[in-house]
Amino acid sequence: MATNADDTGPKSENGFDMGDPELNRHPQPGYRMLRDSGPVVRVAGVIPSRASADAHLVGRHADVVTVLRNPDVFSSRFDAVHIGQVRPLIPLQIDPPDHAKYRKLLDPLFAPRRIALLEDRTRALVSDLVEAVADDSGCNFHAAVSEPLPSTVFLELLGLPVSRAAEFIALKDGIIRPSAPTPEERSSMVDDAGARIYAVLQEVLDERLETRQEDFISDFLDAEVDGERLTPEEVIDICYLFFLAGLDTVTASLDCMMARLALHPAERRRLADDPSVIPHAVEEMLRWETPVTAVVRVTTQDTELSGCPIAADEVVSVMLGSANTDERAWDEAASVDIDRRVNKHLAFGGGVHRCLGSHLARMELRVVLEEWHSRIPEYRVPEGVELDYSPSLRQIADLPLVW
Ligand code: HEM
Repeated sequence: MATNADDTGPKSENGFDMGDPELNRHPQPGYRMLRDSGPVVRVAGVIPSRASADAHLVGRHADVVTVLRNPDVFSSRFDAVHIGQVRPLIPLQIDPPDHAKYRKLLDPLFAPRRIALLEDRTRALVSDLVEAVADDSGCNFHAAVSEPLPSTVFLELLGLPVSRAAEFIALKDGIIRPSAPTPEERSSMVDDAGARIYAVLQEVLDERLETRQEDFISDFLDAEVDGERLTPEEVIDICYLFFLAGLDTVTASLDCMMARLALHPAERRRLADDPSVIPHAVEEMLRWETPVTAVVRVTTQDTELSGCPIAADEVVSVMLGSANTDERAWDEAASVDIDRRVNKHLAFGGGVHRCLGSHLARMELRVVLEEWHSRIPEYRVPEGVELDYSPSLRQIADLPLVW
């Protein structure tokens, strides 16, 4: 999960402005500048809450892979990122060896076979959302599809009331995109939203402790690894992470993908004419757009990356979007080829913390693109509209499409 970029516009020591809206819209040239500046670029003063407020940006593919594969040196521990949590998020902020215990328990619930069972229900939901706007001449895609679809799928799966989706989305946004003007106010907004998420989760957990239902919260309470059950507190710490990961990332990916297709008619037509291309197009757009632009680690010891020293206890921003467009690692890195067949992108991260929800996310993305293009194959962004992408987790709250 990415940190909130500080919207006062911190400058790196090489001078590029990380709060620039154009950079959020088209981050790829910025990534290139980052890679060309060196293997590690220090950004001063971005994390005022830490003794060392600097972040170290790592943008080259080989270095990104090194960081992701060495959790003993580049830790995901509690203080790597603050998103309102009062205990480490499970499994994101648990380092090996304990991390494996949680993945052993969670992986089967998110395995392709389990996710395939959700496809019919997902398709029915998408079809209703598309049908609701198809006879109009346009919509805000973010509000019409990319926000409601993943929220409904995810809340049903976890066992939280779908009727409260709007409230949950607002809480999640309060953490990922706090709108207060100063860092102190933003931090207190994040803590308030966090406390309210814990309260909601505790409420639902108490109900499930009384009576189990057909949902993940009940599954977590009954699951065993090596003969041990999770404690209720561990279940809450898993659900807190799911709340943020499950409600935001697929929405961001759908926004990025539909904006891309609306602005590139040849790609849109290819995909609408031949839906068998869609799974490849999803992977290529995940690579190129990389909606979760970066993940964060903290160094556990003095170390170095490609000859650049990094002291212990420093924050490292692992720039997934940059690794995904690094000409050192990819053929034709800068061209979007929706037929690309070999595509080992890092949009879901890598190493032990690789995304648990990737199969669920891929299924949702594919089904939305299939259903939308079968009903509305021709669409575009209206003339003169400049899309506004949020930083770090690239959503577009206002994504007008016309047809
Ligand atoms: C296209 C959508 C998604 C993208 C791009 C995405 C991206 C990522 C990334 C980059 C990581 C690595 C974090 C790190 O290394 O620090 C991650 C981890 C994770 N994601 Fe996703 N994610 C998506 C959807 C989901 C969904 C739908 C869920 C729902 C359950 C989910 C649950 C998780 C969890 C639990 C982890 C932590 C895994 C661990 O620490 O072992 N993700 N995701």
